Amino acid sequence: MNPSSRLSAPVSRRDALRAFGASAVTLAASMLALRAAAADDKPAASETPKEKEKPAGPAAPPPPSGPFTLPELGFAYDALEPAIDTATMQIHHKRHHQAYIINANIALKDHPKLHAWSAEQMLRDIKKVPGTISTAVRNNVGGHANHTLFWDILTPGGPKEPSGALKSAIDRDLSNFGSMVVKLGEACMTRFGSGWAWLCVYNKKLSIYSTANQDSPLMDGATPILGIDVWEHAYYLKYQNKRAEYVKAVTGLINWDKVAERYKQALG
Ligand SMILES: [Fe+2]
Repeated sequence: MNPSSRLSAPVSRRDALRAFGASAVTLAASMLALRAAAADDKPAASETPKEKEKPAGPAAPPPPSGPFTLPELGFAYDALEPAIDTATMQIHHKRHHQAYIINANIALKDHPKLHAWSAEQMLRDIKKVPGTISTAVRNNVGGHANHTLFWDILTPGGPKEPSGALKSAIDRDLSNFGSMVVKLGEACMTRFGSGWAWLCVYNKKLSIYSTANQDSPLMDGATPILGIDVWEHAYYLKYQNKRAEYVKAVTGLINWDKVAERYKQALG
């Protein structure tokens, strides 16, 4: 099927702009409409006589179904409103996170021995992963593990500050909770381009950490117990280029009970 025919009836460029307006918020939608209009201005490839003569080829095989699958969220897509809007949550989880899983499974398809490994083990032992797939594993298994942790430590409710052993460790290693939040925010803001800011356990102590792309602190021997996604896909729909506002909002959604659980597990 001609992909453009699935979008809408043919539309002129002027109609596309009139329909969608040109405000900053709708700019992306306008660009899509313009692309559709441009595509509709040209004869579709599938409508040319040469293409019509071609016999239909075999359908592409479905992607591997494992070893990884998309984890369910512990909350509804709209549960984090207004800090994280529903559309961002849906796209982030169902498209971005799912894409990392699909690509990880494709990379691992011919390496069944690795299917018994957890995502965390693959990242911790990335040097043991065959060189032919190590970059794909780093990017996509990293993306899967990082997002799984991210969803786990977010909540629409819960305590606003840590307590117990985690609070004591923060006071010991990072001065106090307020100082930790400032340092975590700085890690979010100074990460150039795409990446993550982390609260990690390293040598039994807490530290603030930042990684580029989908790299994990596990690759450096640290155990992440809290992560903030600062890829633009995490916030651009609502916050555009105002990363600081997103960081402030998402910091208020952290499930400190879950972070405390992860801290306890990281100590072993
Ligand atoms: Fe993300």
